[in-house]
Amino acid sequence: MKLPAGTVIAVDGPAAAGKGTLARRLAAELGLPYLDTGLLYRAVGRRVLDRGIDPQDARAAEAEARALTPKDLARSDLRGSLADMAASKVAAIPAVRAALLDFQRRFGAAQGAVLDGRDIGTVVFPAAQVKLFITASVAERARRRFLELTGRGVAADPAQVEAEIRDRDAQDANRPVAPTKRAADAFEIDTTALNADETFSAALAFISKKLDSA
Ligand code: CDP
Repeated sequence: MKLPAGTVIAVDGPAAAGKGTLARRLAAELGLPYLDTGLLYRAVGRRVLDRGIDPQDARAAEAEARALTPKDLARSDLRGSLADMAASKVAAIPAVRAALLDFQRRFGAAQGAVLDGRDIGTVVFPAAQVKLFITASVAERARRRFLELTGRGVAADPAQVEAEIRDRDAQDANRPVAPTKRAADAFEIDTTALNADETFSAALAFISKKLDSA
């Protein structure tokens, strides 16, 4: 598929819906750079935790967001229940989001990109040529996250994984600034009964139809 120069593909949705797997694969297939925007919030949350600061302290969290370096994004401790929740807490702070906005926009504007997150199609790139909203039932998302954790050798309890996903979804969807929300012009793919290949095919079919009619 030949994309117009500078095409931005927004991939949004709740926790563990398969956004990252899909976005990474689309980027490779379409020859676009890829940005996992969740990593930015995770890295800010981690810096805040390292300093023993409350992740709801807006001023301190903003300072950490402004001090973020590429090294922070490469840390190996950005996942797990503490990091997940700290990311979601700092992500609710408007000044933290504002501090990270420019970087995301510059990344996408340079040569087009696939970006995955919660607010890519609504806030970061409201004019993105392609918007996808990836969902799945809570039970299925919890099952996938549990497998991902145990696959990495992390001990996990299925009921706790599901409860944490519910908490984080509620926090991300109900915050006043940039909540998780399907953009009006986003194509929703419910992946509850789809595997990674089927999700990829559905996304590619939509992208090709969308760009043909543009
Ligand atoms: O991989 P998973 O779906 O569990 O999470 P993630 O995409 O890495 O995002 C971690 C947290 O960052 C989310 O729970 C959100 O609170 C926040 N986030 C956000 O607010 N906006 C984004 N564009 C991306 C992530």
